[in-house]
Amino acid sequence: MPSILVLHGPNLNLLGLREPGVYGTLTMDDINTKMIELGKELGVEVHCYQSNHEGALIDALHEARTRDAGVVFNPGGYTHTSVALRDAISAISLPVVEVHLSNVHAREEFRHKSMISAVCAGTISGLGVQSYLLGLRGLVEKIKTTD
Ligand code: DQA
Repeated sequence: MPSILVLHGPNLNLLGLREPGVYGTLTMDDINTKMIELGKELGVEVHCYQSNHEGALIDALHEARTRDAGVVFNPGGYTHTSVALRDAISAISLPVVEVHLSNVHAREEFRHKSMISAVCAGTISGLGVQSYLLGLRGLVEKIKTTD
């Protein structure tokens, strides 16, 4: 069974408590449970990881290179700043779907720019937990059609 990494960046461990008006009331564990359940339906094994540290996220992407068929990635604030994460995504040659709970384009201008979008298979923003779930569906379709 193909395996998929769901990768959460900084501050997403505080989901549920953190600005619920922007990010909703689900916790990261709630999102992970939903992703694992959807993965079972779609015939993929989902495993989840979160870090507040850029280097640890890069390590997780490197580990995914040989283990996983693709990545659903919410890089949090690093979306807008990290050349190193962008380079890691390019380096691993795996399909990565960028997801955001909030609509980054409807927020502050500094959130309008993503360092990683250009090297991702696709981006989904603004649909809350559905951004993650649709990201997984799209990724699995992509993996199946490129097998
Ligand atoms: C986010 C949007 C980012 O701008 C922000 O820094 C986050 C969360 C989202 O899921 O909406 O931490 O990635």
